[in-house]
Amino acid sequence: MRAVDLIEKKRDGGKLAAGEIDFLVQGYVKGEIPDYQMAALLMAIVWRGMDPKETAALTSSMVASGERLDLSRFGRVVDKHSTGGVGDKTTLVVAPLVASCGLPVAKMSGRGLGFSGGTLDKLESIAGYRVDLSTQEFLAQLERVGIVITGQTKDLAPADGLLYALRDATGTVPSIPLIASSIMSKKIAAGARAVVLDVKVGSGAFMKDRRMATALARAMVAIGTAHGLDVTCELTDMDQPLGRAVGNALEVAEAIATLSGDGPEDLTDLALFAASEMLVLGRKAREVKAARRQAEAALKSGAGLRKFRELVAAQGGDVRLVDDPKRLPKAPTVETLRAPRTTYVAAIDAETVGVATVHLGAGRAKKGDPIDHRTGVVLHCKVGDRVERGQPIADIHVAGRPDDATAVAEVRGAFRFSPRRVPRRRLFIGRIAGRARSSK
Ligand code: URA
Repeated sequence: MRAVDLIEKKRDGGKLAAGEIDFLVQGYVKGEIPDYQMAALLMAIVWRGMDPKETAALTSSMVASGERLDLSRFGRVVDKHSTGGVGDKTTLVVAPLVASCGLPVAKMSGRGLGFSGGTLDKLESIAGYRVDLSTQEFLAQLERVGIVITGQTKDLAPADGLLYALRDATGTVPSIPLIASSIMSKKIAAGARAVVLDVKVGSGAFMKDRRMATALARAMVAIGTAHGLDVTCELTDMDQPLGRAVGNALEVAEAIATLSGDGPEDLTDLALFAASEMLVLGRKAREVKAARRQAEAALKSGAGLRKFRELVAAQGGDVRLVDDPKRLPKAPTVETLRAPRTTYVAAIDAETVGVATVHLGAGRAKKGDPIDHRTGVVLHCKVGDRVERGQPIADIHVAGRPDDATAVAEVRGAFRFSPRRVPRRRLFIGRIAGRARSSK
């Protein structure tokens, strides 16, 4: 087999067999296939696509490039994954809620890139919180505390790490089969029996429109079920930021408020929904209504918040910041934007707010950039709200960077107003689910 023949086959619209895909992936991981050939193949895939069989084979090959955790001794471990967006701190609420209901949660999360935030960056706002647990520490904590949120170990799906870095540098990220196999290979390797997926749709998401989001959701559900996982996938709105806070420490504070029963409606609703789906897939409840009651009870009783505190303590974080979120890192200055007139909020463009937070230092333009956990934006209104002239519409937490003024102008520009009443945005857009087809 020669890599060049397979690149040409894909370039000309042919289908690659499982063995051919495995030859390419394992050859690349071993360094036998150079970057330039893999980059050419990836570009051919971007243009020509892959059918479900090829996508499943690519995923299997990426899983097989590293270790696959066996979590069966913990029962049915259920994972969750969001394709990411602006203000999406759902994991920080859902994971402890679900764990407090007795379902183990073993979560490997990522960092933010561009306008989209990352769970690890948010958790690192809590002094001391470790995101680099070894596999042994990961398993021991899951046994002891029933919840782990850490970074992905290097041994899981290493092919994805290499391919993602190459895609990032060669303009080959936006491809449904490449994104779906990248996400699902990590979920499968991390040992879950079921996954609850949330594909974000809108300006502040990877998938800007519903058609693309549905295609990605279908591809991920098909990969999961072909690998023996039960999968549900919700499509949710990301045209305006989720919740009110965007920026790391600000989002942790909002997650703690939500776990205290005092969170924004959309975040609370999404967290309870995802928690219910996880409890059903984890067989802790027979159906969604009963699961929702369990999740609501965990929120109301404070059990979810106590579990979050246990998580932070187990991973070396300073729990005083959980007990008193005012102690989280704070930006020195807050600039308040006010409504220019009495009006309705027609849009708060999520991508623009996300880009502004990168300019404030809360996100990174490229991998490895340092971030400032203190900065970000807190919205005081959502689409559909009526605001009075002069009423605060957003607080911008700035730390004296050269781009602060740009960021403030961007947040201002993210708002659109209408003299007429505007309907609230619907959070839940669609749902796709699949049952395991085999148990590989
Ligand atoms: N997230 C991933 O893990 N992989 C992609 O390809 C895109 C988003």
